Amino acid sequence: MIDTEKTGRRLRFEIFRFNPEDPDSEPHTQVFELDEVPYMSLYLALNQIREQQDPGLQFDFACRSAVCGSCGMLVNGRPTLACRTLTSDLPETVRLYPLPVFKLIGDLSVDTGTWFREMAERTEAWIHERLPFDPNAREERMSNELAQVIYEGDRCIECGCCVAACGVANIEADFLAATGLNRVARFMLDPRDRRDDGDWFEVVSTEHGVFGCIGMMACADVCPKKLPLLDVYAYLRRRLLGAALLKQTAE
Ligand code: FES
Repeated sequence: MIDTEKTGRRLRFEIFRFNPEDPDSEPHTQVFELDEVPYMSLYLALNQIREQQDPGLQFDFACRSAVCGSCGMLVNGRPTLACRTLTSDLPETVRLYPLPVFKLIGDLSVDTGTWFREMAERTEAWIHERLPFDPNAREERMSNELAQVIYEGDRCIECGCCVAACGVANIEADFLAATGLNRVARFMLDPRDRRDDGDWFEVVSTEHGVFGCIGMMACADVCPKKLPLLDVYAYLRRRLLGAALLKQTAE
């Protein structure tokens, strides 16, 4: 049952509006107001605005439970998931903007899919096997501990919050950012992936990879899944540095 009881707060939403497909559209903010109800999430608030005040308002939601990663937006300047943000945790004035870095579709909706697909293609984010396919091959086993570490990296929901919060990603279009480097680390850890350190060196040792990070770590601060991004960076740097030293000794 929908809770119609009110909290007594009148919320003011200042929402970015712009349709890049419409030559007459100008970027601006539009104000909407509504009465807060208990346990109101930003998803509920935006839905109510769209249903009752402006059916043309664009924003993305699918799962409404912090799983699909589609509802990332700037909430009072901070990248976060709107579906898991309660209005009771926000002041009465809420400013909503689309995530930067990604291509704007309209209003609060951005195209994270293209960015993530390009990142996956650049890093070849799939298991690389060097042996020819053997239909009789036995299942390869790994320890529970290692599977758990790999699973940590796989918890990324590709919401783009870490990319939007990253100072480098905001000025350097090719920077892999935390989510890309997390993906790389996940495959580096996986013993089924036969790429060696030399292969990885080409992918992540440039200024667009792990050495492009300037260490502000806003990514870790805003990650809604609390991925261990500090550990990811440390692991990648340690491993690539080791590979570089080995290469130097061999020359
Ligand atoms: S709607 Fe799926 S993460 Fe928010």
